[in-house]
Amino acid sequence: MNSGAFISFEGSEGAGKSTMIETVYDFIYNNVTSKVIKIREPGGTPIAEQIRSILKTKTDETLCSQSELLLMYAARAQLVESLIKPKLQEGFVVIADRYDLSTLAYQGGGRGISDDIIYSVRQAAIGNFHPDLTILMDIDVTKGMERVHKRGELDRFEHEQLDFFERVRQRYLLEAKKLDYVKVVDASNQLLTVTYDVLNIIKDFLNARAKSTSFRQL
Ligand code: TMP
Repeated sequence: MNSGAFISFEGSEGAGKSTMIETVYDFIYNNVTSKVIKIREPGGTPIAEQIRSILKTKTDETLCSQSELLLMYAARAQLVESLIKPKLQEGFVVIADRYDLSTLAYQGGGRGISDDIIYSVRQAAIGNFHPDLTILMDIDVTKGMERVHKRGELDRFEHEQLDFFERVRQRYLLEAKKLDYVKVVDASNQLLTVTYDVLNIIKDFLNARAKSTSFRQL
């Protein structure tokens, strides 16, 4: 039992996770506790950031799906052990830009790696360690990719075709039905509506946790 809270944001490309993470970070910092940090996946520690650069950079050599999966979990294990768990023990709210659901969606749904393989690698890397709350920002794939193309240069994942991202989206939605700590937000709405929806989920969650933590009641 730790005294902090682990919140992750998930969603396919162009869902607006980064903007919402900034908003939620500021909200928690100003209203709940100054013990709040943001991290991103893959990455978040110096070693995991080196792995991120291998995963995100498009090169002439194709990164095979098995290597991709193992690198995702190598980065995650590093982040969990060296940062997330210690911070939770210190009572921090940890806000993650992606976590394990991304692997099920991208490497499972997108690349077609079987659940058995993913679950066995996951077990070796992080066991059953999962967020207390996950907000899945769901958006129509075409709309999401339009936003990505407007942002400019594409990374290795963003070069994938629409059907890849459709499989990612469907896998996300499937997992959300199975896991009670995952809440789905319609990210195609206006920014104000999305912000309202996300902050309501965050408030309910933190109020429920306030009894067992030092967080200020909202
Ligand atoms: P982002 O930081 O811009 O979201 O980029 C991370 C990319 O890595 C994104 O395209 C999703 C992908 N990814 C996976 O394929 N599997 C994973 O487990 C994680 C964390 C990310």
